[in-house]
Amino acid sequence: MTDNPSAAHLKESQGTAAEAGTKATERFAASGKKSKLDVPKERVSLLAGALIKAANDIVEEHEVTYEEYNALKAWLIKVGTDGEWPLFLDVWLEHTVEDVNSKERPGTVGTIEGPYYVSNAPELQTPATLEMREDEEGTPLLFHGDFTDTDGNPIKDAQVEIWHADAAGFYSQYAPDMPEWLFRGTVKADENGHFEIHTMQPAPYQIPTDGACGQLIAAAGWHAWRPAHIHIKVSAPGYQMVTQQLYFPGDPHNEDDIASAVKPELMLDVQERADGSGNEVQYDYVLAKEGESR
Ligand code: DHB
Ligand code: FE
Repeated sequence: MTDNPSAAHLKESQGTAAEAGTKATERFAASGKKSKLDVPKERVSLLAGALIKAANDIVEEHEVTYEEYNALKAWLIKVGTDGEWPLFLDVWLEHTVEDVNSKERPGTVGTIEGPYYVSNAPELQTPATLEMREDEEGTPLLFHGDFTDTDGNPIKDAQVEIWHADAAGFYSQYAPDMPEWLFRGTVKADENGHFEIHTMQPAPYQIPTDGACGQLIAAAGWHAWRPAHIHIKVSAPGYQMVTQQLYFPGDPHNEDDIASAVKPELMLDVQERADGSGNEVQYDYVLAKEGESR
């Protein structure tokens, strides 16, 4: 990747990428999400049955050999030992789960959460500056906007949870030697629903290439890139949360995101700041009330 200024740095750090998978697995296990396993028997039977049938149909249709079957077995085992189930599922399945579950929600569009969210990031009042290192690399970005309900009324007590990679494509808490809360924060909007966040533009992100998912990507001749993106969760009491990502025009991977998570509504309209201090972008949020649907 010659068009990515951080390619050299990525290469240098690839040896550590497998740690990210293990951490994502540990965090998922520790999160509340794992305890919600009370799926009714009928649904388990329906869904597991459909999945098993789909797999059997593939074997039949494509006349899968024993060699291929054993390669699959070895690979599935490796996904687990590499801790890459969160990675695999969030890259190749979450986008459809998100589509299906957000169809009826009016307002701002969502997309996948991905594996690297951390709850309870430090609270900051608007105008906020996310934690960064001295001489942090990258292009400064002022991200600002307003919250309204679906009737256009300002929303009080709204917040923006934001997390993104640094200019080399790494996430704090998932890559070594990064400050714990680097580029992570919970920004409280003001009483008019306005927020301003100072940060640095993230780089395109390559999913770890040294684990089972990377092995699959290489074996299939695919690429491992996601376009540069900012992760967001917006919420306010009495409103439905939106989990989304925002993207930058011109990124070569906006059209072929490996995680299929780009939507036109999520493209930022980035402007250069008049004073030459970097870029600026406005993105407004429309939240649906709890229970409100299309
Ligand atoms: C992955 C990473 C991301 O930053 C993301 O948004 C989605 C998926 C991943 O590595 O699987
Ligand atoms: Fe991401």
